[in-house]
Amino acid sequence: MKNNLLNFIDINDERGSLVSLEAFKNIPFEIKRVYYIYNTKADTARGFHAHKDLKQVLICVNGSCDVLLNDRREKITIHLNKPSQGLLVDKMIWHEMHNFSPDCILMVLASDYYDEQDYIREYEEFLER
Ligand code: TYD
Repeated sequence: MKNNLLNFIDINDERGSLVSLEAFKNIPFEIKRVYYIYNTKADTARGFHAHKDLKQVLICVNGSCDVLLNDRREKITIHLNKPSQGLLVDKMIWHEMHNFSPDCILMVLASDYYDEQDYIREYEEFLER
């Protein structure tokens, strides 16, 4: 699986750091939706689905978590712990989020509005497509 980590430019000065995210510049799609996952309970995992068309970029803006990606040929796990790093999750990639730190805030930029019809939540169905 190709490396889908995006390293954003971190604008640092004596006051601190700033990251800017722009559609078709450092984010490779039009951003139609932003959501974030936080207060995740201990030993809880999320995700466990793929999308038929949706593309997403996951950014751990606080804390850390692990993201497992599965493209049906291989599985990789990526540790996210930097607000200046994003993980591109393309369509038809099974993804699971594990090992959330208690302070984790996982922000997700999505290429489309929420649509339950775009989800593949059954692992067997994902493998058969
Ligand atoms: P779910 O897809 O189960 O979350 P995760 O991928 O983290 O396991 O979504 C949880 C609930 O939130 C589910 O009822 C759908 C709803 N939801 C929205 O209403 N809008 C959204 O943008 C998202 C991502 C989820």
